[in-house]
Amino acid sequence: MCGIIAYIGDKYCKDIIINGLKRLEYRGYDSAGIAILMPDNENNGNSPQNRIAIVKQAGKIKDLEESMKDMDFDSHTGIGHTRWATHGAPTQVNAHPHADCTGKIAVVHNGIIENYAEIKEELLQKGHKFISETDTEVLSHLLEEYNNDGDLLASMQKLIRKIKGSGAIVALSADFPDEIVGARLASPLILGIGKDGNFLASDIPAVLEHTRNFMIINDFETIRIKKDKVEIFDMDGNPVQRDPFKVNWSITSAEKSGYEDFMQKEIFEQPFGIKETMRGRLVDGELQFEELDITEEQIRNLNKIQIIACGTSSHAALLGKQLIERWARIPVEVEVSSEYRYKNPIVEKNCLFIAITQSGETIDTLAAIREAKSRGAKIVAITNVVGSTVARESDSVIYTHAGPEIGVCATKTFTAQIIVMYLMALYFGKVTGNLNEDEYKKIVKEIELIPDKIQTILNDAVKIKKIADHLYKYRTFLFLGRIFGLPVALEGALKLKEISYIHAEGYAGGEMKHGPIALTDTNTTVVGIIPKDFVYEKMLSNIEEVKARHATIFAIATEGDSEIQKYSNYVFYIPQSIEELYGILTIIPLQLFSYYIAI
Ligand code: F6R
Repeated sequence: MCGIIAYIGDKYCKDIIINGLKRLEYRGYDSAGIAILMPDNENNGNSPQNRIAIVKQAGKIKDLEESMKDMDFDSHTGIGHTRWATHGAPTQVNAHPHADCTGKIAVVHNGIIENYAEIKEELLQKGHKFISETDTEVLSHLLEEYNNDGDLLASMQKLIRKIKGSGAIVALSADFPDEIVGARLASPLILGIGKDGNFLASDIPAVLEHTRNFMIINDFETIRIKKDKVEIFDMDGNPVQRDPFKVNWSITSAEKSGYEDFMQKEIFEQPFGIKETMRGRLVDGELQFEELDITEEQIRNLNKIQIIACGTSSHAALLGKQLIERWARIPVEVEVSSEYRYKNPIVEKNCLFIAITQSGETIDTLAAIREAKSRGAKIVAITNVVGSTVARESDSVIYTHAGPEIGVCATKTFTAQIIVMYLMALYFGKVTGNLNEDEYKKIVKEIELIPDKIQTILNDAVKIKKIADHLYKYRTFLFLGRIFGLPVALEGALKLKEISYIHAEGYAGGEMKHGPIALTDTNTTVVGIIPKDFVYEKMLSNIEEVKARHATIFAIATEGDSEIQKYSNYVFYIPQSIEELYGILTIIPLQLFSYYIAI
């Protein structure tokens, strides 16, 4: 995820900013940059000709430092950024900070500007020139446009009302050398109050070595920091009084935002990752999928969709298959990438080929893409990493915007992939005419509620922990699910074996009687994915079969289902939704379950 640090004060800013960026490295990034206010100290009484020096590099912070080593930065005011690409490849030009046409304004930004294309169009017509592929560049030009009012903060306040999407934004202007301004819209931004100056940052660790006094900035608030003063303003520009709070965390625990480790942090970040992935694609109830780069006519003519992926991504593919077949009635074939290239694959006419890969670098998936391409397939990639090899080698790319995944287990990228599958299946369903307007609207409404419902589940994490405390000594776990619950069962089992080294298998509930039931006895825990859907009764009879063999039963069920308690030793309830969306809701308790079992 991108990182921001800004400093204004008595000390030289360069090292403070570079060290702050290093403290943000743990978030993952692909490029970095810094903008420093170079004061005009020799103006001899004329109006000062301050300027902004910007240095940026693709790659590591040490590369940025290397490119700055012979430069003289005698300055006390600057901003820095680590970028995790969302719009445009991770190149030097796309790295932040971004300047306006005059080079007097520099902006860094975390988040996604949904309406950047229309703002860019307006600015182009006014004569602005753009050099990057980023959404962020519109911000520096907007500030330039608004700057005529002679008040940088007022320009920022106008800007935050203009943009849609998410953003923690910080700006520096050569015309306002005594201040740095910022704004927040759904992306974290904190203000640090120090003895020798003040800070803005995306995250506490960036400045924890300089101060322990912080204020959180809320949505639509703007901030102005000077070397000895900080001011916060609400949406209407009124000053806001806020007391700072003290942080006692060590830098290491601050990096994990107080979570024990990155896996736990990433599980809890899922509502945010999902919102970011939906951003700009589901706008006012309408789906926007230009990135797919296929016409509606081509969608209607599809004979088949082929999806390839590995591990967790292949489970997202299996869920996608269920959804596309149900909502769009297009047949979908899912194949693990490692098998694809060895089977002399057939690439059919009118078949859409989709590759799902979190990292965009998995060699089996890459090899499968190359094989399919060599046979004439057009590839749509779904990946979390802008500029990854898979992204570069595919014909079109749909990015999940979950932020970089640092924990070894895929968690937040999985739910972001599922969201793309939901949106894509819904889009195909609408285009093919298989979903009528009422069905479409009902599904959209439910999809929009997913982040809040996941948050409700996460708020109950302690209940899962208690169940894990009872079950962690079992050595065999069977995860059972049907239809939408089957990919969840496979993923639940994969998470458990991967993180706890305990034997776990995922099965279709109805398959138990065909052999695996022999494994169940008093030493087995069966985890049943049993939401209230059209296979609920079927799942209950599958659970009865394993209960008869004395297995311990842990059920993931829908809120309000008291019947399930008769069948289970432990139950965790998820919020109600429509049947098709139970996949994404039921996986959250299973991620938490494998995490707590491993602990
Ligand atoms: C499981 C896990 C792996 C990956 C698999 C594919 O937690 O992380 O199973 O899902 O290696 O990786 P990507 O999605 O990067 O192609």
